[in-house]
Amino acid sequence: MRKILIVGSTGQIGSELSQKLRSVYGKDNVVCGHFAPPYPEGFFDAGPTVQVDATDKNQIAEAVKHYQIDTIYNLAAILSATAEKNPALGWNVGIGSLMNCLDVAKEYRCAVFTPSSIGAFGPDTPHTKTPQDTVQRPNTIYGITKVTGELLSDYYFQRWGVDTRSVRFPGLISSLTLPGGGTTDYAVEIYYKAVQGEKFTCPIQAGTFMDMMYMPDALDAAIQLMEADPSRLKHRNSFNVTAMSFDPEMLLKAIQKHLPGFGMTYEIDPLKQAIADSWPDSMDDSCAREEWDWNPQFDLDTMTADMINILKLKYGNTH
Ligand code: SER
Repeated sequence: MRKILIVGSTGQIGSELSQKLRSVYGKDNVVCGHFAPPYPEGFFDAGPTVQVDATDKNQIAEAVKHYQIDTIYNLAAILSATAEKNPALGWNVGIGSLMNCLDVAKEYRCAVFTPSSIGAFGPDTPHTKTPQDTVQRPNTIYGITKVTGELLSDYYFQRWGVDTRSVRFPGLISSLTLPGGGTTDYAVEIYYKAVQGEKFTCPIQAGTFMDMMYMPDALDAAIQLMEADPSRLKHRNSFNVTAMSFDPEMLLKAIQKHLPGFGMTYEIDPLKQAIADSWPDSMDDSCAREEWDWNPQFDLDTMTADMINILKLKYGNTH
């Protein structure tokens, strides 16, 4: 049975991954590393927690030693648009925490999962059916940290046998914890506005396609990859994974099937638009399908139905 430390467990991915990991491995085998509020409801009652500043290697090492950790999920990161406003912060959090996790993992023989992203691609990358192995010259600091992270993770595997694994997540849509400062955040925020009976102002232009995924599939991807038979893995850091690709108009129409009165206008955010334009329209994830049986369950319509149901329960909406 694994003993897992999640570094950055209170964010958009961590708050749901912690629950899922606890349901798979048992609640006491998953230690939630946290740094600062806000905390998800019931956070301190749901299982073991530990204060960990991801940029402080000693704190990670202490937690790993104390709880006899053998697997680290390293989720600490600053998302793309926020990182563009403070590149040093984006680098220090993204790479600082990864280097710390890798060094601690090397010393204590831990496996490490770190999310990469569609942000690891750039304007020169083929935008449709973006291959697994292709040009990676991102022009955002977020993307630069992701490519660096992929290379560092492969390096620690090749040089010291650290069991590093990673996926390039697309925009993740979820209902528990909001993302913050990401380019794909619009595809989460739109559901909150729709269910609360408000109009949505979209920062991304119609016709801008990006890969997306519903959180339950993202959680399965992370866990499935970490459990995959290593002898089947030709790649490690990092696998393309996607579940759907849509633009704001397709998303609007999918929501209007449930909430016909819902409306959207556009007010383009030039920073986010430029980032979105540099990312793939749709990735080819056949390597993940071949090497560890990746197979997402949700498409735009099934995700939309589920998101609206969950958010209606949360907000008691009658629209
Ligand atoms: N969701 C991230 C962002 O928009 C991309 O991985 O920054």
